[in-house]
Amino acid sequence: MRHKILIARAVFPDVIERLERHFEVESNQDDRIFSGSELMEKLRDKDGLFSTLSERITAAVIAASPKLKAVCNMAVGYNNIELDAATGAGVMVTNTPDVLNETTADFAWALLMATARRVTEAEHWLRAGKWEKWRYDGFLGADLHGSTLGIIGMGRIGQAIARRSTGFNMRVIYHNRSRLAADLETHANQAQYVSREELLRTADHVMLALPYSPQMHHTIGAAELALMKPTATLVNIARGGIVDDAALIAALRDHRIASAGLDVFENEPAFNAGFLTLSNVVLTPHIASASEATRRAMADCAADNLIAALSGAQPPNLLNPEAGRKE
Ligand code: GLV
Repeated sequence: MRHKILIARAVFPDVIERLERHFEVESNQDDRIFSGSELMEKLRDKDGLFSTLSERITAAVIAASPKLKAVCNMAVGYNNIELDAATGAGVMVTNTPDVLNETTADFAWALLMATARRVTEAEHWLRAGKWEKWRYDGFLGADLHGSTLGIIGMGRIGQAIARRSTGFNMRVIYHNRSRLAADLETHANQAQYVSREELLRTADHVMLALPYSPQMHHTIGAAELALMKPTATLVNIARGGIVDDAALIAALRDHRIASAGLDVFENEPAFNAGFLTLSNVVLTPHIASASEATRRAMADCAADNLIAALSGAQPPNLLNPEAGRKE
């Protein structure tokens, strides 16, 4: 009998066609967001789930899905999945690492440049018909070239961000759970390992590229923002929840830091509306990996993982080998 799978959100049609060659597929091209109870209902008879970062795969969802053998997330982050509960229930979990590193790093730079040089703020002003004359002090921002870039979270994406800084002649400092091997530091524009406190005090531009975990909740809060230079920018392409958004709004409002560029938010898409009252923040809707080629690669990677998991092979991006294999 063919395995049954659920594709939780809309995805490229050819990926669905490919999965249909292997499985009985329930898809969701209307792209409705399922409630927790709808998800449980739909997963009752499913062997596999193709998920995205929008679905919360909790211990309760896993417990309500007796046949579920694999959850294959179309994202590198997997904080939407209770991994321990999945492992305990013998459910394999996979993510999509590597395929998005370069695209995400490109976008981190887009956001950093837009933030430091006030691109969207200036564009809104122009569109509002306010451009009557050139001014010597119009939209003065911060330089990137020659400045110090501080990266918190120096995994593969953090390193890709660092590599791009050579063209700007920047000094790179970083903080990470552990120090990188010397050759990786060299390759990441001679990045120097520093404490988080030193990074926050020293960097002109602070970039967050660390994975979310409950231990990392509000890693950047009022105390950390207070350490930053009043001229500094903060860019978050990692996950909502790493920054205390209310504290950031207060810091931006009081000009305790210069500006922020945010692709991720607490409780997204229902983010804190306080950001909308500020002109010194650039806001994007979680699109750092959103190039055509990369989103396709992510979808293909999640499909590869699901096909491998349900055909008895080792999924290429298995996060919990200790889960074993459920019959
Ligand atoms: C995007 O945020 C991802 O985790 O892939």
